[in-house]
Amino acid sequence: MPRHSHESGIAAVHEIRKKLRLVNSIVTFVIVVLFLVILRYVYQPAVLSPFFLPNISMALITGTVFFLSLIGLYLSKMLSRQTFGIIQDYSSKLESIFHIINVMTEEIHSDILLDKIMDYALSITKSEAGSILLLQGDNKLAFKIVRGERAHSLQDTYVEVGKGIAGWVAQKGLPLRISDASKDERFDPDIDGMKGSETKSILCAPLRTKSGIIGVLELFNKKDRQSYMKSDEEIIAYLAAQAAISITKAQFFEDQKNYEIHITEMMLGAMDTHIAEKHGHSKRVARYGNVIAGALDMPEEQRKKLYFACLLHDIGFLKIKSGDVYKKEEFMTHPVVGYEMIRPISFYSDIAPYILYHHERYDGSGYPSGLKGEGIPLEARVIAIAEAFDEMTSRTSYRDPISFDEAKEELKRNAGTQFDPRLVELFVENI
Ligand SMILES: [Fe+2]
Repeated sequence: MPRHSHESGIAAVHEIRKKLRLVNSIVTFVIVVLFLVILRYVYQPAVLSPFFLPNISMALITGTVFFLSLIGLYLSKMLSRQTFGIIQDYSSKLESIFHIINVMTEEIHSDILLDKIMDYALSITKSEAGSILLLQGDNKLAFKIVRGERAHSLQDTYVEVGKGIAGWVAQKGLPLRISDASKDERFDPDIDGMKGSETKSILCAPLRTKSGIIGVLELFNKKDRQSYMKSDEEIIAYLAAQAAISITKAQFFEDQKNYEIHITEMMLGAMDTHIAEKHGHSKRVARYGNVIAGALDMPEEQRKKLYFACLLHDIGFLKIKSGDVYKKEEFMTHPVVGYEMIRPISFYSDIAPYILYHHERYDGSGYPSGLKGEGIPLEARVIAIAEAFDEMTSRTSYRDPISFDEAKEELKRNAGTQFDPRLVELFVENI
């Protein structure tokens, strides 16, 4: 019988309550029998006899009561053990769920995240196969993760919303638990048959966020039992709800990354067109900056920021008329103008100071603030070297390039005055 349920309450609690009720009944029965025996033998009310207790030997009555008590004790022990088992099973599942949620919250790469969700769902329900489908557009579900015999043929294919168990769950937004797939008219072996024709039991839950369904999580063939239990459904529905939040978050991060990269590309393109003379300058500076970052063994996150700062260090020129770029007064405004352009963009705001200070000099004679030595941010000191090196080694209308070796000597000559001497050393050694 296909079943889907959305009654409230936790299945384990219902089961425990049922067992406890049984224990109570057994105890009550034993007490009532004992009470009747006492009544019969202490007060010997003629009225009660012979309806409740026939006038039989005391030994027999005592024996019976003793026997009943033993059975009662045995039954209640057995039931408590079962109850304990249910609680243990449930709490270990809860423990895994907490662990999974922690892991999911920290994962921002959606591919890895989906993989982890699938692994956990399979292990927590002891399923043979499974899949995660995500909604694309209004009525298509894409197989993002497929585990089982048909993993290769189904990966990245689509199904229509409404088709198969997965499509039904996506359409209705309800979990579905089926013990015999072949008897369910919604079952479509092409979509839900992750174990080929051997698909028997299915558990499927919607991936739902506040703004709607984003996909479904489908599991096939529970290993240790004939079919999925109510408690499996609850755990998976909960996991699916949390997974949906994490998936949306990861997708958001990816969208933002995509936006960040394309915005940067767009600005670099605009720069290259605006000052043709500086074509490719930003990317070369980023490469040189990376040489120093590598030599310094910079942490990944800091390295990434430095890379973007190198790419955008001269962005201020975009707001200076291309004819005026090399006029000293205008030229000197570009760090401040660039800083003001970049600072309000939240994902760039960290790198704005590196842009602002990239024309400071180690001896304090630079601009715009006249910062000195370590007072200049490390990243800005790196950009200063990378930028000077590229300017010396690139051809412009007013100057022929010099060789790498000559440029290195020039850097060394200015170490301690214009540049941070330690960074110059690292750059010259590693370029
Ligand atoms: Fe500059």
